[in-house]
Amino acid sequence: MVKIPEKRNEMLMKVEFYGHVRQYQNIQPEIDANMRGVLMSGQYVMGPMLKRFEEELARYHGLKHAVGVGNGTDAIWLALMALGIGPGDECITTTNTFFATAEAIWIAGATAVFVDSDPRTHCIDPARIEAAITPQTKAVVPVHLYGQCADMKAIRQIADKHKLYVIEDNAQAIGAKGDGFRIGELSDAATTSFIIQKNLGTFGDGGALVTNSDAIDRAVRRMRNHGSEKRSCHSYGFNSRLDDLHAAVLSAKLQHIDAGNDQRRKWAARYDAGLQGARNFTLPYATPGYRHVFHLYVIETKKPAQRDALIKYLADNGIDAKCHYPIAIHQQEGYPWGKSARIVGPIPNSERNAATCVSLPMFPELTEAEVDYVISKTLDWDRAQA
Ligand SMILES: Cc1ncc(COP(=O)(O)O)c(C=O)c1O
Repeated sequence: MVKIPEKRNEMLMKVEFYGHVRQYQNIQPEIDANMRGVLMSGQYVMGPMLKRFEEELARYHGLKHAVGVGNGTDAIWLALMALGIGPGDECITTTNTFFATAEAIWIAGATAVFVDSDPRTHCIDPARIEAAITPQTKAVVPVHLYGQCADMKAIRQIADKHKLYVIEDNAQAIGAKGDGFRIGELSDAATTSFIIQKNLGTFGDGGALVTNSDAIDRAVRRMRNHGSEKRSCHSYGFNSRLDDLHAAVLSAKLQHIDAGNDQRRKWAARYDAGLQGARNFTLPYATPGYRHVFHLYVIETKKPAQRDALIKYLADNGIDAKCHYPIAIHQQEGYPWGKSARIVGPIPNSERNAATCVSLPMFPELTEAEVDYVISKTLDWDRAQA
């Protein structure tokens, strides 16, 4: 049971949203040694460090292949293109995700088809998928939002029944597990992002795709490198490679990902215990039997009008809270920007999530005092509500 500081006149603390520098300081010798190795090797693009990291990442997932690419968005559209998905095809996903999920479908040239999310997990609601399937549907792109896997068993069943591909957008949940399934096990490929703020992040942009499919692996390897498998021989492709310096950072950090995720889970449990009983917001839902890795710890205010007020109250008290994501994709100005899109059924859960979500600071290097301070101030705000 968490003890909340008794009186609310603590000193004003500053609690950041991210702990990038703390993390670097904690494992600096390992990161520096890896980066120096690359610098001294003279091989910075498609070099031995990238190969090593790809092997480590594939092993970590228990899958045959990992391909490093420029960022998590590219990983998605490269996967879709590797499957031959393009204009005239439809991919089903949700609107309460980071914009990049939909963007990648559009970059591949396909139609983004949006269905509602589960009201508790905020991942795609499998019960909504079948109504959205047409003869043009080629793939489902579930997002493991906030660090928790979507219901992949249900999604796999639907995909098998309708002969659809499944690409997991795993930008937010590396190291998570489902109830009896691992990421990448029930899909054609899983993609991830290594932008710095992710659970496994580099000092800049990066991404990867993991798969058991030799064909997807080969196609993405070729496309990420100007359509080339050997020097001076090209087919249509792009430049989207993971630099060796980023691979060096990621290789060092990969050794610590499980410990970091465990620490996130510990802070989430502390938030849960400290904040339970609050009247004006609900706590994140962790599906029983799943390993939620809390990329984000997202509470939801009871009323939409309370969202920004809570964020402001926390900011006034030195706490950086954010919103993921405050405007659902279909509610963004200009939607769908001339791109092909369809919304199937009402999507109240996604819309409510967008209107009420507040992400509290969450990173492994938080201190107990910081977590307790966030709990204390969030409860202060809760008590002050009518
Ligand atoms: C769910 C989701 N999908 C895709 C991406 C895109 O990743 P990147 O920023 O590396 O392109 C992100 C994060 O940025 C994300 O959170």
